[in-house]
Amino acid sequence: MLLIEAKDYNDMSRKAANIISAQVIMKPHAVLGLATGSTPVGAYKQLVEWYNKGDLDFANVTSVNLDEYKGLSPENDQSYRYFMNTNLFNHVNINKERTFVPNGLEPDSEKACAAYNEIIRSVGGIDLQLLGLGNNGHIGFNEPAKEFTHTTYKVALTQSTLDANKRFFPDSDMPRYALTMGIDSIMQAKRIVLIATGAAKAQAVRDMIRGAVSPECPASILQNHADVHIFLDREAAKLL
Ligand code: F6R
Repeated sequence: MLLIEAKDYNDMSRKAANIISAQVIMKPHAVLGLATGSTPVGAYKQLVEWYNKGDLDFANVTSVNLDEYKGLSPENDQSYRYFMNTNLFNHVNINKERTFVPNGLEPDSEKACAAYNEIIRSVGGIDLQLLGLGNNGHIGFNEPAKEFTHTTYKVALTQSTLDANKRFFPDSDMPRYALTMGIDSIMQAKRIVLIATGAAKAQAVRDMIRGAVSPECPASILQNHADVHIFLDREAAKLL
């Protein structure tokens, strides 16, 4: 694990965007594993800026997102498909048909998960996976549990995640289930970049890096990955 402490959120976002950008420049056909939530917004903004300057070309990039809420349509402004379109895909020259998000509308979740595993396999696996970190140590929507998870599955969100994300659902009930890549799917990415910011993440950051590798802190599994870069701001790093 390589730890990089950034000066602040903007510095962290730029640094993470630099690694993603280098990946796309070195391998124009790269498969990017992408995350949603508030943390990656700055990195996506930076990528859009570099694209507008002519420094980046997404024409041959494929993307697979970590997760999607169960029951939300791509048009719902709280769906992760909508988030990706508005924060990145609508602003760069990525081929939308090569951008994948689990299908939260498929009534048969097992079918949706199997289809998503097949997509990840057929694109040749993930070159670079971007991750945020839940306050409870989750990555994707892999919540603290008794065992590490495997491939894409339907998950019941924990109270901690419902509390952390309900701010995004002021006018409607937050979905209680999501479809998420499993821990094995994430660990198979060739390179992983995790970003975390703010004091609310400090304990999870500590457990991820200094704690035992345990499904009680799903992100701790990253200690076993050969190529992980972790970008933190000072607040998130304060318990290290
Ligand atoms: C999002 C995801 C989640 C978030 C995490 C942190 O696709 O998989 O693991 O990365 O919940 O969310 P924020 O960045 O909103 O604090």
